Amino acid sequence: MALLEVDDLRIRLQTPRGAADAVRGIGFALERGQTLGIVGESGCGKSLTAQSLIGLLPPAARATGSIRLDGQELLGLPERALCGIRGSRIGMVFQEPMTALNPLHTIARQVGEPLRLHRGVSRAAARQAALALLERVGIPDAASRLDAYPHQFSGGQRQRIGIAMALACGPDLLIADEPTTALDVTVQKQILALLQELVAERGMALILISHDLGVIAQNVSRTLVMYGGSVVESGPTAAVFAARAHPYTRGLFAARPALGAPRGTRLATIAGSVPELVDLPPGCAFAGRCRYTADACRSTVPPATRLPHGHLVRCLRLDEIGVERGLA
Ligand SMILES: Nc1ncnc2c1ncn2[C@@H]1O[C@H](COP(=O)(O)OP(=O)(O)OP(=O)(O)O)[C@@H](O)[C@H]1O
Ligand SMILES: [Mg+2]
Repeated sequence: MALLEVDDLRIRLQTPRGAADAVRGIGFALERGQTLGIVGESGCGKSLTAQSLIGLLPPAARATGSIRLDGQELLGLPERALCGIRGSRIGMVFQEPMTALNPLHTIARQVGEPLRLHRGVSRAAARQAALALLERVGIPDAASRLDAYPHQFSGGQRQRIGIAMALACGPDLLIADEPTTALDVTVQKQILALLQELVAERGMALILISHDLGVIAQNVSRTLVMYGGSVVESGPTAAVFAARAHPYTRGLFAARPALGAPRGTRLATIAGSVPELVDLPPGCAFAGRCRYTADACRSTVPPATRLPHGHLVRCLRLDEIGVERGLA
C-alpha cells in the first residue's frame, strides 16, 4: 500500500461569481521515502491541494474524492482526528516561516511543542529534543540560543527552525509549500539541500511545491505539472523534462530563467494569463492559452495518454504535436 493515495480530489470554492472547482479531479500516489514535486503558475491549485492533505482548507473550500494515508481516509475525518495527524504523521513547511512560528515563544518551546502535544513528553525532554533538531538543521550555537525568539534569527535560519518543528514528531510525509520562495538564491540552495539530506536520512516522503521548474527538476524524483486545477502532465522528473509533452509544460520550460543569464534579462513568458476559475473551459483548462487548441479541447477533458517510463500527459492533440526534447 502506498503511503499516500489521492484519488479524484476536487476542491470547490465559493467565489463572489459562483462556485468553481479550483482543483479538478487530481490523483497521485506517493510511496514511503519518495519525493514528488508539484509545479505550476500562481493560482493553479498547488497550495489548496497541500492544505487539503492536512485538513486545513479555507472555510470557502470543500474537498471531495479521496485522500488516504496508509489506507486511512482523511477526507471527512473530524478535526480532532486530523489534529492528531497534522504535525505528527504529516509535517508542513510554509513559504513564510513566520506562518508557522509564534513571535512570542522561544524557539526551544516551539520546536518541542509538537512533541509535548502529540507524544506527551516532558518539558525537559522536549527541550532536549528541540536542541538536537536545531543542531541538525544547522542553527549555529543552538545550545546557547534555545531561549531566543524567532525575530532574532535571519530568514534562512527561521526557515530552518520551521523545518525542525515540522520534523519534531518524525513525520512519514513532509509537505513543503514554496519553502524557499521568500529566501535569496544562496540560502534557497542550502535549504533545499537540507531537505534532501533529511528525506534521505529519515526515509520520509516529500511533497515539494514550487512555481520554479528548476527547483523541481533538481530536487524531486517525480513531478506533477498543474494548470487550472488539473494535472496536465506527470511522471518521473527526468522523463517529463526530457520529453515535454503538454504544451503548458513546454511553455513553463521555455519561460524558465536560463542559468547564468545576465541580471535583468527578460524572461520568456507564456502568452495570456491564468483565467479566473469560473472562466475555465469545461475541457482542457489550458485551451484558452494554447496555440494548438482545437474545438474539442474546449469541451472535452483530455484522457491520460501513457508515454514511456510511466510518463502521463493529458492533451487531445498529442498525436499531432508530438513531444519536445532537448534544451528548447
Ligand atoms: N481562501 C481562499 N478563498 C478564495 N479563493 C481562494 C482561497 N485560496 C485560494 N483561492 C483560489 O484558489 C485558486 C488556487 O489557489 P492556490 O492558493 O491553491 O494556488 P497556488 O497554485 O498555490 O498559487 P501560488 O503559486 O500563488 O501560491 C486561486 O484561484 C485562488 O485565488
Ligand atoms: Mg501557493
